Amino acid sequence: MKRIRVGILGATGAVGQRFIALLTDHPWFEITALAASERSAGLPYREACTWRLTADCPPAVAEMIVQPCQPGLDCEIVFSALPGEMAREVEEEMAAAGYGVLSNASAHRMDPDVPLLIPEVNPDHLRLVPIQQRRRGWGKGFIVTDPNCSTVGLTLALKPLHDAFGVRRVIVTTMQALSGAGYPGVPSLDSLDNVIPYIRGEEEKMIQEPRKLLGTLAADGESVLPAEIAISPACNRVSTRDGHMETVSVELVHKPSIAEVIEAFRHFESLPYKLGCPSAVEPTLIVREEPDRPQTVRDRDAGRGMAVTIGRVRPCEVFDIKFVLLSHNTIRGAAGGAILNAELMVAQGMIG
Ligand SMILES: NC(=O)c1ccc[n+]([C@@H]2O[C@H](COP(=O)([O-])OP(=O)(O)OC[C@H]3O[C@@H](n4cnc5c(N)ncnc54)[C@H](OP(=O)(O)O)[C@@H]3O)[C@@H](O)[C@H]2O)c1
Repeated sequence: MKRIRVGILGATGAVGQRFIALLTDHPWFEITALAASERSAGLPYREACTWRLTADCPPAVAEMIVQPCQPGLDCEIVFSALPGEMAREVEEEMAAAGYGVLSNASAHRMDPDVPLLIPEVNPDHLRLVPIQQRRRGWGKGFIVTDPNCSTVGLTLALKPLHDAFGVRRVIVTTMQALSGAGYPGVPSLDSLDNVIPYIRGEEEKMIQEPRKLLGTLAADGESVLPAEIAISPACNRVSTRDGHMETVSVELVHKPSIAEVIEAFRHFESLPYKLGCPSAVEPTLIVREEPDRPQTVRDRDAGRGMAVTIGRVRPCEVFDIKFVLLSHNTIRGAAGGAILNAELMVAQGMIG
């Protein structure tokens, strides 16, 4: 198969670097354009970017010239790792110019005609794409978004519970890694030996986004009716590098045993895996039985960073069940998630 040419907006940042690492040697996609701010444009990538991932920057990418984030990039689709404030305008400009935009940014996630997508959760929401194109007069351009990095793990865990038993109310406390704030993110003197009980805008996203993701398409197919789930999040920044841990208590409509809850997690099926999407993994939800797992360092890379690890599934004294989950914030929660979105669209004939 001829590989599809892709660009990366915000290529020099924390998520942009993850995109490069995950797209290098990708069987379906080939990096042909890199873009970032005016500060970086015109420079070879190796000069514009301080590479911070463990493996070296791929040599072919290191020599590419960084371009401004505007139409004219030599590619069919772009992965956007732009800061939220500027993503709205730039992503719309790119889509209007005919590019498919797969975005990590929050700007368009809650737009009624923009799919907020987790391929294992709501692949049918891609039916919003032609509606978006028609409404906005975009021809073949489009915007598809992936959720906030804490929302992804939570929603993947809630999906089989919601399908089998109905989720009514959720209390979730997050312990979020420093890389979630980009680079340099939280200053070392604020983060070392510390927990910061506030992440701007995060709790609002965790209230809204799972409801859209677990919602159903309206009868006319033109918008999503949000799931009627009440969510109370408390988001904390902790001093880990990568991997968001969350403790979750859930009230269910039907009352399963703990064994039935674990069964539901274990039998969760992945459509993108069945379709042969290269970034999909099975199992997507890994249930650990050891009482002290998941742990950030041991479990964040499970399933190449695309799986969610769940542990300590037990009765809840206030709601029905409670458990702990861990997911990789810059892979499953950002670059890997957006790439899987693009792969699903390729598998369904919507790209390429
Ligand atoms: N980090 C995570 O775990 C995570 C998870 C999910 C979603 N996200 C979202 O992903 C996006 C990127 O996050 P990040 O953590 O990678 O941020 P980051 O490390 O701060 O990187 C920001 C990128 O955007 C570019 N940029 C900044 N200002 C720009 C401008 N005016 N015009 C064009 N490009 C500009 C930067 O280029 P220069 O180097 O040239 O300045 C850099 O490439 C954000 O929307 C964030 O909310 C992040």
